[in-house]
Amino acid sequence: MAIVTFSSPLMHKDKAVYAIAGDTKTALALAEENRIPIPFECRDGNCGSCLIEVSYDDPETKKAIMLTDKEKMTLKELGKITAEEIENAEVNDMPPRYRLACQFIARDENVTISFTGTPGGS
Ligand code: FES
Repeated sequence: MAIVTFSSPLMHKDKAVYAIAGDTKTALALAEENRIPIPFECRDGNCGSCLIEVSYDDPETKKAIMLTDKEKMTLKELGKITAEEIENAEVNDMPPRYRLACQFIARDENVTISFTGTPGGS
């Protein structure tokens, strides 16, 4: 079970929710279920509205990074991922700082997800 903590200036205080192990819910789906107002449009990794910053509570427990070509492309267009971060994700399983909430799935690791509330503006 992973604890996902959402943090945003739009929220009175941070909110921690549980992501069940083996669950394939995206951070966006988890946020919606818990009435956390991450902006979104396409839900498909194309628009970049759901940009989030992800930090790992315990970097040692990081799992394989699922970064699709679509997500890489959108993050690149937003200027939120470097070629070095892409290589690090693919070769060393080092997660990039920014992700798309509609693509990111928290697995067993505890994470904090921050967003500004401005579409694409994390
Ligand atoms: Fe469009 Fe996530 S909602 S990229």
